[in-house]
Amino acid sequence: MERKKVTVPGIMRAKDEGRPIVAVTAYDYPFARIADQAGIDFILVGDSLGMVVQGNDTTLPVTMDEVIYHSRMVARARERALIVADMPFGSYQVDERDAVANASRLIKEGAAEAVKLEGGEAVAETIRRIAAIDIPVMGHIGLTPQSVHRMGGHKVQGRKRGSAPGQRERLMADALAVEEAGAFAVVLEGIPLDLAAEITAALSIPTIGIGAGVECDGQILVMHDVLGLCESLAPKFAKKYANLWQDARGALETYADEVRLRTFPTIDHSFQSLQPVRTKRPMAAEG
Ligand code: KIV
Repeated sequence: MERKKVTVPGIMRAKDEGRPIVAVTAYDYPFARIADQAGIDFILVGDSLGMVVQGNDTTLPVTMDEVIYHSRMVARARERALIVADMPFGSYQVDERDAVANASRLIKEGAAEAVKLEGGEAVAETIRRIAAIDIPVMGHIGLTPQSVHRMGGHKVQGRKRGSAPGQRERLMADALAVEEAGAFAVVLEGIPLDLAAEITAALSIPTIGIGAGVECDGQILVMHDVLGLCESLAPKFAKKYANLWQDARGALETYADEVRLRTFPTIDHSFQSLQPVRTKRPMAAEG
């Protein structure tokens, strides 16, 4: 894996070169640093932070100031990865001037290199306006968490052929509209694999799948799902590569036991006075 900085044109080239694009979310400096060192191509400061960091049931309460705060921490960790910041609910739907101003804040104050927003045909003009001032835009269609109330939950979209009149056709039209408006890539979330494959074949920009099967040009997962950092079960489409929740809980239980048993701290974790000192605690053996 090359350590060369990942750029927007590099992400776009990956599709032509058949190189899978790897992405993960991060919300703070240490995890972004780990992701960057692991060779992740782009890091998304996702509004999923509303759920996995803030503990809300949806992403809807997340504000611009909160994304900027997290994006700044993530951007400080960047060496190789491209940093994409999510536009939170309400930051781009009111009007296009607002959307351009908020996208600019994510670049200027959040130190992101690109922004992501949810929606298809309905936000195509907004994507066009943001891209027109040279802010790279990533689209996001399918299961769009900011539409949770319309969808009646975080539900897979476009699953039944012939039902939900035209839903599959609408998703294809959304994908084409996002590309035509100037997005450099598009996240396909929670759609069946055959539809994701059709969209991937129809677009010249890369598709980044999450719960969208095996034929997307890249994959993204929420960091907490990849690392097993959630108390609840990870979604079906995610794969847990570690179990940090259990590991962290075990470590803290051991710490608590040791403090209560007075086996931590030992003299090794202590500073010596410059004068000889009397202590009730056993001295560690000299090595
Ligand atoms: O906010 C987020 O984490 C996302 C990803 C799930 C794509 O939008």
